[in-house]
Amino acid sequence: MRGKQEGTKHGSSTGTAAMWLLLPPVLVLIVLKTGFLPQVAHFRETGFTKVSDEMVHKVSTLGLDGATRQQQSHDTVKREAAKDVSAPISKLTCNFNNAHSDICTMEGDLRVHGKSATVYVVSASTFRPENSSIKVQPYTRKWEKETMSRIREVTMRSMPPAPYSFTIPPRCTVRHDVPAVVFSTGGCGTNFFHAMSDLIVPLYITAHEYSGRVQLLITDYEPKWVAKFRPILAALSMHPVIDLDADTAVRCFPSARVGLESHRMLGIDPDLSRNGYTMMGFRDFLRSTFSLQRPWTTPVISRSTGRKPRLVMVLRRHSRAITNEADAISSMVDLGFEVVAAGPEDASDMGQFAGVVNSCDVMVGVHGAGLTNMVFLPHNATVVQIIPWGEMKVACRYDFGDPVPDMGLRYAEYEVTAQETTLNEKYPRDHPVFTDPASLHRQGKLWEIFLQGQNVTLDIGRFRGVMQHVYQSITTD
Ligand SMILES: *[C@@H]1O[C@H](CO)[C@@H](O)[C@H](O)[C@H]1NC(C)=O
Ligand SMILES: *[C@@H]1O[C@H](CO)[C@@H](O)[C@H](O)[C@H]1NC(C)=O
Ligand SMILES: *[C@@H]1O[C@H](CO)[C@@H](O)[C@H](O)[C@H]1NC(C)=O
Repeated sequence: MRGKQEGTKHGSSTGTAAMWLLLPPVLVLIVLKTGFLPQVAHFRETGFTKVSDEMVHKVSTLGLDGATRQQQSHDTVKREAAKDVSAPISKLTCNFNNAHSDICTMEGDLRVHGKSATVYVVSASTFRPENSSIKVQPYTRKWEKETMSRIREVTMRSMPPAPYSFTIPPRCTVRHDVPAVVFSTGGCGTNFFHAMSDLIVPLYITAHEYSGRVQLLITDYEPKWVAKFRPILAALSMHPVIDLDADTAVRCFPSARVGLESHRMLGIDPDLSRNGYTMMGFRDFLRSTFSLQRPWTTPVISRSTGRKPRLVMVLRRHSRAITNEADAISSMVDLGFEVVAAGPEDASDMGQFAGVVNSCDVMVGVHGAGLTNMVFLPHNATVVQIIPWGEMKVACRYDFGDPVPDMGLRYAEYEVTAQETTLNEKYPRDHPVFTDPASLHRQGKLWEIFLQGQNVTLDIGRFRGVMQHVYQSITTD
């Protein structure tokens, strides 16, 4: 389902751009004749000589200081006029072929007007009339219509080099000397899995290379999201983030990216990353951001020395809860684990919980966003995913199984049987919930029935068997 990464490049061929340059005088002529765009017409008619005449006239009444000032602004006019007829300076490249997100990369004279969600690409060598306006929704779940319907469009408006341009770009009110990265926080609420998979990992791939010298601009700005992830945003950028939609300034940047790079669920493909980034590297970045102590688990824990492997059990409350969690915990304590039970309230302070997770060698939990905290485990720790009833193995592995090896972690799973689900209390055993769960997936009821609609009662004997195996794999006699 993932598309090839090879990008469609807009106007990357200079030949075509040059060809276009032959056309515009005709257009400008039309503009002048009809006065269709008065600003431009005025500029052309006034011309450079007339402006200087006016200056000279004014200087005499303004005195010396005024004269200097006028001379300076005269020089500016001159320089800008000179720049106007010089070679194109901006370049825009977009890639629409990635399955996760559309991304535009640009450099040169870029002017970002947040309020109108427009990036003016001034004097662009890549300009083509048919692509003078390109729209991108800067979120990484392109395939998900419902999510994308909540994401604001950002428009890249390209302009050809003067004198062929007949749009006047807005003037810069703020100049930045760092690149801009534009993305949306409108797609995920504060769901921790989506925040990490859809935004934080893609932000790392896109913006970490600037070593903090980058300006992040957020559309569909979610104050709660920004507050929660502020430590990570601050580690990626030394400048406070900008709420794009509320921004009336015209901000000028030497380069910019609109949209984030995304390769896979909670993962990075080093071959697709410009800098060869990896999930291990990403986790090292998080460890440094939250000052976590343990890069690696203790390689071998001797059962005789008394130090027990530490295990964090991520608990859920409203759905996919473990009804016999006390029994499950004592079975693990019995096996020799030191167990830390963590409910949603314990995990809500990300920085603090990151420290707890990093102190552990094993994480156990039923499929759910809480398992995303695995990003804070030390390398070589083990993740145990409990898969709820309902032919959920493939979907659960996709989110929290497949990403595990690339993170430098180990993976085990425990699959709940029909005997262990509270769906037993709601449906007879001959119901499709038990006889053909996949048919209910196809009817779009997976979320409602199998994710929202069940708790699990673990078969302690069987669960203990799986956990004993984990215990033995990380300890020696
Ligand atoms: C314009 O953009 C479309 C995609 O939106 C692309 O297929 C096409 O090749 C582009 N045309 C030019 C001339 O760059
Ligand atoms: C799961 O258990 C919680 C109590 O821990 C309860 O509030 C919730 O309604 C239960 N959900 C289902 C789907 O049984
Ligand atoms: C990872 O843990 C396993 C089991 O304790 C151990 O055999 C292996 O050497 C560890 N790997 C590293 C790189 O520490």
